[in-house]
Amino acid sequence: MELNKIYNEDCLQTMSKMPNDFVDMVLTSPPYDDLRDYKGYVFAFEDIAKELFRILKPNAVLIWVVGDKTENGSETATSFKQALFFKEIGFNLHDTMIYYKNNPMPTTGKRYHQHFEYMFAFSKGTPNTFNPIKEQTKYKGIANMKNRGKEGTLNYEKIERTEDKKMGNVFFYSIGGGISTKDKIAFQHPAIFPEQLAYDQIYTWTNEQDLVYDCFMGSGTTAKIAQKMNRNWIGSEISPEYTQIAENRLLTLAENSLF
Ligand SMILES: C[S@@+](CC[C@H](N)C(=O)[O-])C[C@H]1O[C@@H](n2cnc3c(N)ncnc32)[C@H](O)[C@@H]1O
Repeated sequence: MELNKIYNEDCLQTMSKMPNDFVDMVLTSPPYDDLRDYKGYVFAFEDIAKELFRILKPNAVLIWVVGDKTENGSETATSFKQALFFKEIGFNLHDTMIYYKNNPMPTTGKRYHQHFEYMFAFSKGTPNTFNPIKEQTKYKGIANMKNRGKEGTLNYEKIERTEDKKMGNVFFYSIGGGISTKDKIAFQHPAIFPEQLAYDQIYTWTNEQDLVYDCFMGSGTTAKIAQKMNRNWIGSEISPEYTQIAENRLLTLAENSLF
């Protein structure tokens, strides 16, 4: 199979060309309910989920970035249903991470502003690769840690706090023109995720030369960042128009990159 290429077709077709246990990571964001009109294409969620399980290597991770539509006064909970289905077919729900938008579109009505989407991490067994992103610790040096003994007694233990620690599983991103990406062309697609999100996830779950697959390539964010990070990649995008946008975006890779 040709690597570093966007296949302009249904992802089920692309995956049918892949052997079992083929890719090191999947990073993707599916069409959310019918929240946006992706040129009227439907997607066969259950078939795609099973194929994703088949083509991922054991101990590899699938990142599924998703949110729900509000319909007749209720959130659809499609994202939860999908998560439960992934579990049913053999994935571990390794971590429910949050993609927090610092500056979301305001929400009207009797609801708080919708600030987040899920970034479900599903794994085929325990992940092989985990390169945690670190943040600075506030307080360095020796600290007293409290823990409760079996009989409820309080014990104190001295621990050394290091300079940095792995960050929490809520990832904060500002979004929008010139922020999610500097590539103007990408905004011809209605639903891109930020380049920094792609960077953080690819960094965490892969190493150089690994193969990253995005079954819903959209404007090409995963491809661009994977290429910048010396990973191999494959993408599927069903719309010829979006495939063209992604290909044009990749042509300008060197000039406009965030990284
Ligand atoms: C949420 S968007 C992905 C956006 C992408 N993460 C980005 O940053 O640009 C989902 C994409 O999936 C595509 N799509 C829908 N059904 C598909 C299918 N069966 N196979 C491949 N692509 C599909 C849509 O055309 C749309 O571009």
